[in-house]
Amino acid sequence: MIAYKNDRSLKMIEVKDIRKGFGDKIVIQDVSAIMQTGKCNLIIGTSGSGKTVLMKCLVGLFEPDSGEIYYDGQPLSEMNDEQRKELRQQIGMLFQGSALFDSMTVEQNIMFPLDMFTKKNYAEKLKRVNEVLDRVNLKDANQKFPAEISGGMKKRVGIARAIVLNPKYLFCDEPNSGLDPQTSLLIDKLIKEITIEYNITTVVNTHDMNSVMETGDNIIYMYQGLKEWEGSNKEIIFSKNQRLNDFIFASDFLKDAKDMRMLEMKGKIDNNRNMDEQLK
Ligand SMILES: Nc1ncnc2c1ncn2[C@@H]1O[C@H](COP(=O)(O)OP(=O)(O)O)[C@@H](O)[C@H]1O
Ligand SMILES: [Mg+2]
Repeated sequence: MIAYKNDRSLKMIEVKDIRKGFGDKIVIQDVSAIMQTGKCNLIIGTSGSGKTVLMKCLVGLFEPDSGEIYYDGQPLSEMNDEQRKELRQQIGMLFQGSALFDSMTVEQNIMFPLDMFTKKNYAEKLKRVNEVLDRVNLKDANQKFPAEISGGMKKRVGIARAIVLNPKYLFCDEPNSGLDPQTSLLIDKLIKEITIEYNITTVVNTHDMNSVMETGDNIIYMYQGLKEWEGSNKEIIFSKNQRLNDFIFASDFLKDAKDMRMLEMKGKIDNNRNMDEQLK
């Protein structure tokens, strides 16, 4: 991770000492982070910890009070309107609740960004819509309206719309809200696959623990507006951060499961050590 730190040639996002408040209430306090390319970068934390505000700062919907956000090494605050517009076209967003247009079909919903930002003709646009629909396993759903499809399918349409312009950056705010655990996992897997396949810098806000364990390559844990912990899903098991543990392993059952897993992993490490000793 350190290796990325000074290499701004990558399509990554760097956050430096971001602070954001509303009135006299500070909501984001001196948060610094690197969102890595080709990875799912997770922002986790309880409701109200500042995840959405941080994400809105990242995409430029909120102006931070201080600090800087770099896209590919370029400071967001120094971008002119033209550069910001260009950046906007490289950003895909999956909003909470999918935010589809109810009066438009699936096809029209996904075509919308193409209508807005490209000069492609209808046949070209339809080809691209069908490509992304296929990618999210929703072939033949073109003519359906949002009201006619399930919550999981709506998310898939939302993802298809978010990636239709081939974004470099993908932002998903609580992609699993309102979904059952199994469908949530499918959506997580899809987001992760797409991230790797297209080498996207993906940022996901979540408080879903399955997501964290499944997709969390690079996790930022927010606690009351502060970055309390940072690491990977593998490191979470061993973390001694009390607040993080209370958040992740909220129930006694999960706390026991964590202890078991730690013992198991420790057993493996000790075993390997013994083998190393024997080989010496
Ligand atoms: N537009 C706003 N004006 C004032 N306060 C806000 C605004 N947006 C968010 N907040 C406050 O910022 C804090 C963090 O909110 P948010 O980022 O939405 O939390 P999360 O996404 O982690 O649930 C909350 O206390 C919330 O009330
Ligand atoms: Mg939120």
